[in-house]
Amino acid sequence: METIRTVAEMERRASELRESGAVIGLVPTMGALHEGHLSLIRRAAGLADTVVVSIFVNPTQFGPSEDFESYPRDVERDAALAGEAGCDIVFAPEAHDVYPAHYATVVHVQHLTRRLCGAFRPGHFDGVTTVVAKLLNIVRPHLAVFGRKDGQQLAVIERMVADLDMGVRIVPGDTVREPDGLAMSSRNSYLSDAEREDAVVLSQALELARGLFDSGETNAALVVGRMREMIESKETTEIQYIEAVDRATMDPVAELGENVMIAMAVFLGKTRLIDNMVL
Ligand code: PAF
Repeated sequence: METIRTVAEMERRASELRESGAVIGLVPTMGALHEGHLSLIRRAAGLADTVVVSIFVNPTQFGPSEDFESYPRDVERDAALAGEAGCDIVFAPEAHDVYPAHYATVVHVQHLTRRLCGAFRPGHFDGVTTVVAKLLNIVRPHLAVFGRKDGQQLAVIERMVADLDMGVRIVPGDTVREPDGLAMSSRNSYLSDAEREDAVVLSQALELARGLFDSGETNAALVVGRMREMIESKETTEIQYIEAVDRATMDPVAELGENVMIAMAVFLGKTRLIDNMVL
């Protein structure tokens, strides 16, 4: 497995791969790889000849009071795990190479970025779409795999790629969960024992919503209200948002139905976790 550290070298290698006719799959990550990322890499390996995993803790998607500095970084560990899962090239550039002096461009997706995480993390999605657009231009993949766990991010990236005719297939990868249901996340490692115990309530609340919907309940406010009660019953939780939205537009819906996503962000102590389910 190769590790490429510069944008110029990645661009050169991508041209070579394109010319050889290889199908390139990209899995963009910020490192701190866990089973959720590895399942995305395996998915890419099943679809592409050459799998590139980017590892880049992107400064532009973190707010000033967020965990950019403390975000776990260990490229060697991540590269070893990525290789075992089927990655051929790890692309781990430096921030000054991705955003050199005089850098001035932002990719902004309108509308879908206003609600949910977009409402609470100003500028976050601009950082995500800008870096993803850059990664797609540098690596020139035929397909790129993104996790369903970041449901709004996935919808925003799908919109960007369609709107800007970027000619890359976006492949969604399923959320991988711990045995008790907690969605895997690099930020789970921040949880204290008590917070980890309470964190299971996020997936339990989604299960509750699924059960209510399956038994015929379509009133979104009622279902979200029941989820809130359940989550608030745990001591270490503080809900930032729970919303039922149309999966394509991120607009709120009053009625649950097909293609409705119920999404949430919940603090467990200082750690903010997200989870969602598409009906
Ligand atoms: O989902 C993530 O880890 C990041 O938002 C991404 C897509 C790698 C962009 O930095």
